[in-house]
Amino acid sequence: MHTLDDLLASGVAGRTVLVRADLNVPLDGDVITDDGRIRASLPTLRALLAGGAKVVVTAHLGRPKGAPDPKYSLAPAATRLGELLETSVPLADDFVGPSAKATVAALSDGQLAVLENVRFDARETSKDAAERGALADDLVAVVGADAAFVSDGFGVVHRKQASVYDVAQRLPHYAGYLVSNETAVLKKLTVDPERPYAVILGGSKVSDKLGVITHLLPEVDKLLIGGGMAYTFLAAQGYGVGKSLLQEDQIETCKGLLAGSGDKIVLPTDVVVADAFSADAAIKTVGVDGIEDDWMGLDIGPTSAANFAEVVSGAATVFWNGPMGVFELAPFAAGTKAVAEAIAASPSFSVVGGGDSAAAVRTLGVDEAGFTHISTGGGASLEYLEGKELPGIAVLED
Ligand code: 3PG
Ligand code: MG
Repeated sequence: MHTLDDLLASGVAGRTVLVRADLNVPLDGDVITDDGRIRASLPTLRALLAGGAKVVVTAHLGRPKGAPDPKYSLAPAATRLGELLETSVPLADDFVGPSAKATVAALSDGQLAVLENVRFDARETSKDAAERGALADDLVAVVGADAAFVSDGFGVVHRKQASVYDVAQRLPHYAGYLVSNETAVLKKLTVDPERPYAVILGGSKVSDKLGVITHLLPEVDKLLIGGGMAYTFLAAQGYGVGKSLLQEDQIETCKGLLAGSGDKIVLPTDVVVADAFSADAAIKTVGVDGIEDDWMGLDIGPTSAANFAEVVSGAATVFWNGPMGVFELAPFAAGTKAVAEAIAASPSFSVVGGGDSAAAVRTLGVDEAGFTHISTGGGASLEYLEGKELPGIAVLED
């Protein structure tokens, strides 16, 4: 795989370089609540700017329906990028249209511009290779056929999309620093990790995580399960889970996993329940055998959090994906915070994967420096650990 360093060594002064970044940050209105992904994209952009390239960034935000929608504009991200780079960052009004072309034509050497959300075009995410290819051709037309392509949006490399995959087939392509670093760290988790190796999974759906659970169980020493997905496992153990999240069609699968690897799987023993999905609901902590019919579990309880923390503190390698509860609401944040703090305090090789877990670390005020690596990719890191081929990486390998 050719890397950004190879491209820089060949000289980029005056050359147009298209960078696919992942600027998909969480927003509250037009306020960015966690700019981690934007900051993670800076090393590549700074290196290209320092080399005198004309840098054109293509990216997505959210999941617009294949047509322009101001709600999903990259404007807040472009503004934040400008603040961090301490320069003005023009944002084109479109992504391959007249504004994109004019914005790129106006770039001087060592200047950067952002193209508007590429998912404003349905071809970006099309399953049809010809449709995606046509958008990739349009992107090439914006930057010129002599441009280079740097793939640095690690969070989207598991997507076979025009700006991630098809464009790489059309331009000389290089892995950016973020993509290189992320894959190097994840590789360390899959090749002979130091033991004990503990994985902590949370988030809402068991079905989303089944692939990674099945793939990781033989590899890990402990698999800790919290978040919404824990309730399907608790149901599989025979507990009533009230109004908690439950995937009934997954109960049998969970039973099978518990029967086969019950010694490795660690589940909550107590939970924080509420009578409504709200910060000002009635709230109490109960044992997992005490979840009443009209109540829903929204966080792991303090005893579970202490158990999880103890497993983490004894581990040499830790991977964590998915919050333990609804951490966005203060009454249900303690479990996620306790687990994050235990990981940060442990001297283990520790990797946090996933937008939500990474945002939890930062918004709950846990020391980022305590983690070996905070991945910008949720789905991408899980698919990597599952052993799946990531199209956006595979396409760079030639
Ligand atoms: C993410 O947020 O997971 C990445 O930016 C990819 O976005 P997507 O899940 O909408 O493809
Ligand atoms: Mg995602």
